[in-house]
Amino acid sequence: MKHIVIAIDGPAASGKGTLARRLAEAFNLPYLDTGLLYRVVGRRVLDHGGDPSDVALASEQARGLGRLDLERGDLRTPEVDRAASAVASIPAVRAALLDFQRSFALHAGAVLDGRDIGTIVFPEADVKLYITASLTVRAARRFAERRALGAEVTLEAVQADLAARDEADRTRAAAPLRPAEDAHRIDTSALDANHAFAAAADWVNRALAKP
Ligand code: DC
Repeated sequence: MKHIVIAIDGPAASGKGTLARRLAEAFNLPYLDTGLLYRVVGRRVLDHGGDPSDVALASEQARGLGRLDLERGDLRTPEVDRAASAVASIPAVRAALLDFQRSFALHAGAVLDGRDIGTIVFPEADVKLYITASLTVRAARRFAERRALGAEVTLEAVQADLAARDEADRTRAAAPLRPAEDAHRIDTSALDANHAFAAAADWVNRALAKP
């Protein structure tokens, strides 16, 4: 099969991670959740007792990031959500993570999901998807995930947190969340994972059929 790059962007809890994993499996491509990179940087700053908006410390942590850091088990807490969003607004952090993301796809192609994959990391991606869902649907999904992990959270708090993070990701100066002009949009508000996958796989098959 051709070595293609599939770029998937969208806001938090839009369903892009589930979709990306399924596409990677179906089309036999390596998968990178790029949000994890920002989470690791945020986590490392917190481990150092630092402030995630500290440009020098966050950039240093981004430059020192290795593949094994992605396996850490403590990257999906509300504290890390906020730290990741803060370090993600620092241009030097984003620059330090670019090479890692681009070389990931070098040998066998890849599926990458994030916020700026179709716009900045892989503007030449073979397929670009922009996954959205309404805030209420996304909050309900994230709430269920967190509760399943045993967290004591309320739906209201989860929704407020998502809204704040989306706003920060959309309005920051460095690589804000936005659809690439040539991205195919899929709204998963009323789609289950199977239907979202079918719509996405259709775009991938069209790209593979191109000479
Ligand atoms: O997808 P996520 O929730 O794991 O992402 C964590 C944070 O990192 C989120 O606030 C947005 C940011 N991020 C980014 O700026 N660019 C990416 N390519 C991926 C994530």
